[in-house]
Amino acid sequence: MTTTRALGLSSLSVHAGEPSPAVGPLEAPLVLSSAFGFASAEEAEGAFRGDNDAYVYGRWGNPNVELLERKVAALEGARDAAAAASGMAAISGALLSVCGQGDHVVAPRSIYGETPRLLRERLPRLGITTTFVDDVSPEGYRAALGPHTRVVYVETPSNPTLAVTDVAAVAEVARRAGALSIVDNTFATPYCQRPLELGVDLVVHSMTKFLCGHGDAIGGVVAGDRELVERARELTVKGLGGALAPFNALLICRGLRTFALRMRAATATATSLAARLSSHPAVRRVHHPSLPAHPGHAIASRQMRAMPAILSFEVADLGAARRVRDGVRLVTHAVSLGDARTLLTHPASTTASTMPAEDRARAGVTDGLLRLAVGIEDEDDLYADLDRALGG
Ligand SMILES: Cc1ncc(COP(=O)(O)O)c(C=O)c1O
Repeated sequence: MTTTRALGLSSLSVHAGEPSPAVGPLEAPLVLSSAFGFASAEEAEGAFRGDNDAYVYGRWGNPNVELLERKVAALEGARDAAAAASGMAAISGALLSVCGQGDHVVAPRSIYGETPRLLRERLPRLGITTTFVDDVSPEGYRAALGPHTRVVYVETPSNPTLAVTDVAAVAEVARRAGALSIVDNTFATPYCQRPLELGVDLVVHSMTKFLCGHGDAIGGVVAGDRELVERARELTVKGLGGALAPFNALLICRGLRTFALRMRAATATATSLAARLSSHPAVRRVHHPSLPAHPGHAIASRQMRAMPAILSFEVADLGAARRVRDGVRLVTHAVSLGDARTLLTHPASTTASTMPAEDRARAGVTDGLLRLAVGIEDEDDLYADLDRALGG
């Protein structure tokens, strides 16, 4: 797709990466071939030398996967993107592609549970250590830097407590320390914020979530400049074998067509629900950066063009949280987020259950905390369902 002026996010999600002019089938056919025939011996030899872009083998490249990579790169304002089999494949691959024996990572304690688990339990076996921070301000990150810090890892807003980090300031902290900055942009999505424009080196995503948007495909992606993305692709996809299946790429591309429309609806609904739930008598606290009382409100208002489509709220205790989960009818009690349907999760017993109990407590993941990943249903229907489940 070529154009003389920068397109908006909605236009990009429909047209980016697509052949232009659109001729033949408008929708990319699903290419399920594991190997590709060569036109000549010269082409085959050139493909292995890296002299041409001929498709060789499904784990090295596939037209559906590459179309998706071009689309995500355009949405994130990245030079390149490498798709992977899941968000965790993208995150582990990105980290391993830049870290080795003796390297150090600084990461928040309270983020999507599997990421700290990777950093706490798996990477130390390869000689990669992590300092976890509770204070996700630039000062908190700076204080945790060491002589061998290679990566400063950010998730903002964070899962599940919606803590907000000043991306530009932390990217600067990393740069001055000679480290790379990586942001997990799954919660915010490029609809709300584009971390590469704020100076970070790499963005990672669970595409399973809002990018796919329909809860029917697992996938991940790393986006950034060509050299870093190529390193991540070489390791994650070619070396470790975490290639995205072509059918999943097609589903996620299809989901992306309506990305901006879905995000417009879901972010607006989440923002209204956050305000309404704040005055509900059974709700002790709501975590959403749109609320002036949220500690990250000022930063989020500056760095995000819309507030996230996820909020979390606290009820009295585990018993009350159980009653809400068992009481909802329209809202679906399930893990994950970014679906067209609104999903309610109890992080302490599910997605954050692999965190040590002490870390959970320090991170504010209480037994009464519930996470609501807002979909595209009507706001009044969602509120009525939650109000009833809360015993309103
Ligand atoms: C913020 C965040 N990052 C990464 C992941 C992992 O993604 P995946 O399940 O696609 O591996 C998740 C999953 O919930 C997530 O919430």
